[in-house]
Amino acid sequence: MTNNIYFIANWKMFGSTSLLNSLNKLINLSKLKKYKNSKIIYFPPFTLIKDFIKKFNKSKISVGAQNCHHVQDYGSFTGSISPKMLKDLGCKYVILGHSENRNDGESDLDVNKKIISALNKNLKIVFCIGETLKEKRKKLTHSVFKKQINRGLKGVKNYRNVLVAYEPVWSIGTGVIPKSKELEINVSKIRKLLSKRTKYKLPILYGGSVSSKNINSLKNISGINGFLVGSASQNSKKFIDIIKKTIN
Ligand code: PGA
Repeated sequence: MTNNIYFIANWKMFGSTSLLNSLNKLINLSKLKKYKNSKIIYFPPFTLIKDFIKKFNKSKISVGAQNCHHVQDYGSFTGSISPKMLKDLGCKYVILGHSENRNDGESDLDVNKKIISALNKNLKIVFCIGETLKEKRKKLTHSVFKKQINRGLKGVKNYRNVLVAYEPVWSIGTGVIPKSKELEINVSKIRKLLSKRTKYKLPILYGGSVSSKNINSLKNISGINGFLVGSASQNSKKFIDIIKKTIN
């Protein structure tokens, strides 16, 4: 386990080359000694990955993709991008199992196949899990964790490149975050489930409406090793604010 604190910027289907200059501020921040344990990783849409990699070339900021196909190398899959292609591009990470893709029909089995392929290609994966509002109301949250973790990570042997992001679906894009106690209990449950699979202490991140307004309370939740930030990460000033408040 490292003492790294992860700050993930998930730009989703947003962004254009005109925003590249706004990243200079992040590059400057990442060079400061104070933030040496802060791991900043950008996940732009596929079309911007190459520009981001070039932009962050001489900095410690990494770049990842928001999804990939489950076939490792090449195949007749129109519109898809493979783990090999991402690796060749210079990507270090890939987000898998995001609820927006699960909601589009991606099953636990699909996520598992992608995880195995991405890990085989030496990509680090950000494995997203989390319950819907309906599941939460039915008190199924912990059984959802169990199902998603056991199915998603089936067959994974080496956990060194696995990060887990807990993202309650009802919290994504809504401005609503879990109560501190509830979040602490859920993160600890996830930690327990993961510890049954590996001795390696995986980073667990929280995602869902993280903002510069709620970060002061979120950063105090024990067991969380960083944040997956969606909409607030598209604005460099807001993203920097989140990082600064967490580290200060
Ligand atoms: P949000 O998105 O911060 O806009 O809620 C988080 C995510 O979906 O990764």
